[in-house]
Amino acid sequence: MATLKTIADHIMDICENAVRSKSKLCELYIDEYETSFFFRISDKGIGMDEQEVKKALDPFYTTKTERRKKFGMGLPFLKFSSELTGGNFKITSEKGYGTVVEVLFKKDSIDCQPVGDIAQAIFSVVYLDHDTDWYIKRTKNSEAYEINSSDMKKEYGETFFSPSFMKNIKDLIISLENEF
Ligand SMILES: Nc1ncnc2c1ncn2[C@@H]1O[C@H](COP(=O)(O)OP(=O)(O)OP(=O)(O)O)[C@@H](O)[C@H]1O
Ligand SMILES: [Mg+2]
Repeated sequence: MATLKTIADHIMDICENAVRSKSKLCELYIDEYETSFFFRISDKGIGMDEQEVKKALDPFYTTKTERRKKFGMGLPFLKFSSELTGGNFKITSEKGYGTVVEVLFKKDSIDCQPVGDIAQAIFSVVYLDHDTDWYIKRTKNSEAYEINSSDMKKEYGETFFSPSFMKNIKDLIISLENEF
């Protein structure tokens, strides 16, 4: 692997899985402290049975169908990276009901990847898919902000997807991150 993946990159990967699960509403919960970074991503999508979860943790398994893509690395690499820091990784899934991925990184471990750009990750997740809504709660040192895309779409309609509105959302997230 040539690039240094950040925790923010992992979050986007797992959120992409949640969107692909065909869940209408997904949740991203981040709880960060000086020496730890926890996140939980849940969806109410197609889910996986026990066998499929096992396969998903195998780096040579993917259900993606692009010809060049012969393996899926998102989950296995996240499990490896978080456990390497002395943190933990847990995936709970039920066929037809959805999936929850919970991850803890110990930031004080020498092996911990950089946190990366959380503002950019949250912004990307909000706009990952036109029809998938996100409830996001981001906590840092016990202070928090929340984003509810479903509420915003109800209030602003298609304006929510206009470039100028997107720019405002981006700036809002950056300013909220800077307030921590
Ligand atoms: N939230 C989810 N709901 C249902 N199935 C999932 C979910 N997350 C992962 N999977 C299944 O597990 C497989 C492996 O996921 P993983 O993220 O490791 O790789 P990928 O998404 O296939 O490829 P990559 O993430 O490397 O682009 C997926 O192809 C999918 O079949
Ligand atoms: Mg993936």
